[in-house]
Amino acid sequence: MNSTNTQTQKNPERVLIFDTTLRDGEQSPGASMTLEDKIQVANVLDEMGVDIIEAGFAIASNGDFEAVREISKQVRSARVCSLARAGAKDIDRAGEALRDARRARIHTFISTSPVHRKHKLQMEADEVLEAVKFSVARARNLVDDVEWSPEDATRTEHDFLCKCVEAAIAAGAGTINIPDTVGYSEPKEFFALISMLRERVPNSDKAVFSVHCHNDLGLAVANSLAGVQAGARQIECTVNGLGERAGNAAMEEIVMTLKVRGDRFPFTTGIDSEKIAKASKLVSSVTSFPVQYNKAIVGRNAFAHESGIHQDGMLKHHQTYEIMTPESVGFTSSSLVMGKLSGRHAFRVKLEELGYNFDDEGLKGLFARFKELADKKKEVTDDDIVALVEDHFALGSERLRVVKLYVAGGTGQPARAELTLEVDGVECAATAEGDGPVNAIFRAVREIFPHDARLRLYKVHAVTGGSDAQAEVSVHLEERDKGVIIGRGADTDTLLASTRAYVSALNRMLGKGQSTIPHSLRAL
Ligand code: KIV
Ligand code: ZN
Repeated sequence: MNSTNTQTQKNPERVLIFDTTLRDGEQSPGASMTLEDKIQVANVLDEMGVDIIEAGFAIASNGDFEAVREISKQVRSARVCSLARAGAKDIDRAGEALRDARRARIHTFISTSPVHRKHKLQMEADEVLEAVKFSVARARNLVDDVEWSPEDATRTEHDFLCKCVEAAIAAGAGTINIPDTVGYSEPKEFFALISMLRERVPNSDKAVFSVHCHNDLGLAVANSLAGVQAGARQIECTVNGLGERAGNAAMEEIVMTLKVRGDRFPFTTGIDSEKIAKASKLVSSVTSFPVQYNKAIVGRNAFAHESGIHQDGMLKHHQTYEIMTPESVGFTSSSLVMGKLSGRHAFRVKLEELGYNFDDEGLKGLFARFKELADKKKEVTDDDIVALVEDHFALGSERLRVVKLYVAGGTGQPARAELTLEVDGVECAATAEGDGPVNAIFRAVREIFPHDARLRLYKVHAVTGGSDAQAEVSVHLEERDKGVIIGRGADTDTLLASTRAYVSALNRMLGKGQSTIPHSLRAL
């Protein structure tokens, strides 16, 4: 390392991490989260040191409003932010949702590019400019921290972009976020754009510049880092790179690049990198979006060395093929191997290692399920235990409980499911046929507990390798226009996991009062 590098590493500049997993991330088709999931994710983001949590888009739905409101109440350290378009109603709704936040931010935006002005907004440039002034001023009347974004900034004429940025700062925006909305830019161009704005906008020194890059060309992280090199001091990103289309810049990649390559990037963040693995697993689990095996930093293979030459090198010295340790991102190489002989104490220690704390009461049911699993599987991995805990959380209010399941099927005949559920303490049984075993099971559930909700998504994911792997199943149900409810189930038996996932979604629906007890069951 040369002396200049040592010098710059001694005086690193702070880059703010703005996490938008709960807003832009949730906009990924099929990634919707329940309120409880969002609160859990927000608490983990807060714990890991995220500076600003974009908790939702308050006016978009009652669900988003509630999420911003609840997260505002619960989050201790991070600033909580709501997105708002440029209209008065949007901004006021964001302000209302943020009322209980210790530190609140309204993030207001409007499209500035010619293609968006013409086809999306049908507004002239001077009308957009007026909307910028109006929206920022209105937001500043509600909170003292306002961020403004020109949507599709990277395809906006530079002169007009400069005018808008200047007007937003003059109206009171403390942060100017430059989004590459369509993921079109490349690092040199994005560096030049941020530099141009900082040089040409007369009041640019009065605001923090932020970057928000989408990954359509796979350049989101590279562009974000180029933005920081050009003077931006806030990066907007998501856990696992979740987000619209190809996603947003991945938080874990940004944080670890800044950390590992401090010689090239003399900047720091407030993120405790050892919490990355936990956040990644949680987001993947609650959204049912599996993490790509070879995903940088958090993929299953990110620290795996299989070839002989690499393994040999690793055994001689880990730095031969490792630029950061798995521990630095929170993957523990624990000496606690869990199996059927493991006791309650070891199980509790393992849960703590994985970031879960349970009291004796909470541990009871979970330990019994761990023992059941350990009887079926030789070795219970960390991922198995995470799936078990998530499945336990997913049980919801448990008005419905799976008691017995028998499934038969094969080629040339319909599958048949015989199912017994406990409904409010009463056992009810039904038999149904279907195109396949899962279809037959879901029909049997509907037979026992008729409901209007429609199945929107059914997803199976193997938690580990091997034919004794646990299957983690997600079911999304939608009832009329009341939104999507997610249920999850995990078991070594895929069909049982599927049944549990469906029943967990129904339990959550009942917990939310989104479905009434069917008429046929009221007499039970
Ligand atoms: O990608 C985008 O332009 C956005 C804005 C709302 C900031 O998400
Ligand atoms: Zn975006």
